[in-house]
Amino acid sequence: MPKDFFGGISSVFKNKDMVQIDYVVDEDRIIGRDEELESLAQSLYPATNGSKPSNCLVYGKPGTGKSLSVKFITQKLKEKAGENGYSVGIAYVDCSQSSSETDAVIRIAKQLNDPDLSDVRIPDTGLSTGQFYQRAWKAMDATHDISLIILDEIDKHHAYDDLLMTLSRAGEANKLTDSSLGVIGISNKPRFTDKLNERTVSSLGERRHVFPPYTANELKEILEARKDAFYDGVLEEGITARVAALSAREYGDARKAMDIFRYAGEIANENQSETVKDEFIDEAFERAERDEILEIISTLPHHSTLVIQSVAALAADRDTEKNPITTTEAYNLYQRKCSIEEASPLSERRVRDLLEEAEFLEIITRNTKAAGKAKGSRTIITLVDDPEKTLEACKLVEPND
Ligand SMILES: Nc1ncnc2c1ncn2[C@@H]1O[C@H](COP(=O)(O)OP(=O)(O)O)[C@@H](O)[C@H]1O
Ligand SMILES: [Mg+2]
Repeated sequence: MPKDFFGGISSVFKNKDMVQIDYVVDEDRIIGRDEELESLAQSLYPATNGSKPSNCLVYGKPGTGKSLSVKFITQKLKEKAGENGYSVGIAYVDCSQSSSETDAVIRIAKQLNDPDLSDVRIPDTGLSTGQFYQRAWKAMDATHDISLIILDEIDKHHAYDDLLMTLSRAGEANKLTDSSLGVIGISNKPRFTDKLNERTVSSLGERRHVFPPYTANELKEILEARKDAFYDGVLEEGITARVAALSAREYGDARKAMDIFRYAGEIANENQSETVKDEFIDEAFERAERDEILEIISTLPHHSTLVIQSVAALAADRDTEKNPITTTEAYNLYQRKCSIEEASPLSERRVRDLLEEAEFLEIITRNTKAAGKAKGSRTIITLVDDPEKTLEACKLVEPND
C-alpha cells in the first residue's frame, strides 16, 4: 500500500480563507459599518452613471474595517455601473508593499489595462515615471469609463505626495480625455493630511470618511459571522467572546480579532486537538501581537534588522526611562553583531539613515535631548513595541542568527 501522507492530518477549519485578513465578505457578514458604507456609496455614486466620483480619504485605526469596506463597496459600484452599461475598472495598491512612485504607477496601469482594447503595453521596467503615467492614462481611457484607484496604507508610501498629487489632479490636468478617475486614499493615521501639501488635500480630501474602533460586542458579532470557517461544533463555548474581549483591550481592533481567531484554530491543529479550546487563546493572542511587529520588520533589509535588534536588545536589558538608549550605543552594539556575523558594518552615517527609516515605519521614535552644558545634544531612541516581542520578530525574519 502506498503511504498516504495526508491521511493522518485533520483540521478544525472547513474554510480557512474566511478568517484571512484579505478575504472580502458579503454584506450579511459586515457588522456595524452601515453608515460608513452608505457614506462611501454617496461619494462614489456618480460613477454608477458614468460620471466622475468624488475622491475620498478614508481614515481610522488599524482593524477598523477600512480595507474591507472600500473593497466591498467598490465591487458593488462596479456591478451597479455595469448594469447601467458603464465599465468601472478598479486598481488596488497596498502602498506598504510598493517601493517607489514608478512601482505604484506600474501596478495601477497593469490592473486597469486591457491590451486588447487599449493596444497599450505596460512593461515591468525601462520607461521613465512620466512615460509610465502616459501609458496608464492611455490604458484607462481605452479600457474603462471610470477608473477607481484605491491606495491603501497610503501613508506608508515614500512618494505619497507626488503620487496623490498627480492622480488626484489628473482630471483637471486633462490627462484623461475619454474617461474619468476617482482616487480613494486609505490611511491608518488620522493626522495624515497634516503632512500633505494643501493642494493635494483639497483635491483628494473632497470627501473624508472616518472609521471608529469597534465595541467588544461588535467584534464578537464579526467573529460569530465567520464561525463557518470552522467545522460545526469545533469551537468551544465562549471562544468568540473571549477573543473579542482581548481584541478590544487596547481599542476595538477587528484585525487582531481575526488573527487571534485564526491562530487559535492553527494551534488546535498543531496540537491535533479536535476542538478549539479556551486555553489556546492566550498563545494565539501572543502570536497576533508578534505578527504586528513582524509584518513591518519582514520588509526590511538585513542591516536594518540588525540595527533594530541592537536597539531592542539594549531596551530589553534596562529601564530606558531612566537610562535612555543613544544612537552611539545602538551603533556600537550593531558593530559587534556585524563582527559576530563576520559582516562588514555600515558607516554610522548610514545607520542613522536606517534609524530614520525605522522611525518612518514607527518601529522606533527619536528625540533630541540636551546632554549637559558642554556636551551639546544627543539623540535618544525609544522602541515603540515590546523589546522581547521585537527581538522575537527579528529572530523570525533572520532564522540564521
Ligand atoms: N465590520 C466588519 N465586519 C466584518 N468583518 C470585519 C469588519 N471590519 C473588519 N473586519 C475584518 O477584520 C479584518 C481587518 O479589517 P480591515 O478592513 O483589514 O481593517 P483596516 O483596513 O481598517 O485595517 C479583516 O479580516 C476584515 O474582514
Ligand atoms: Mg487596511
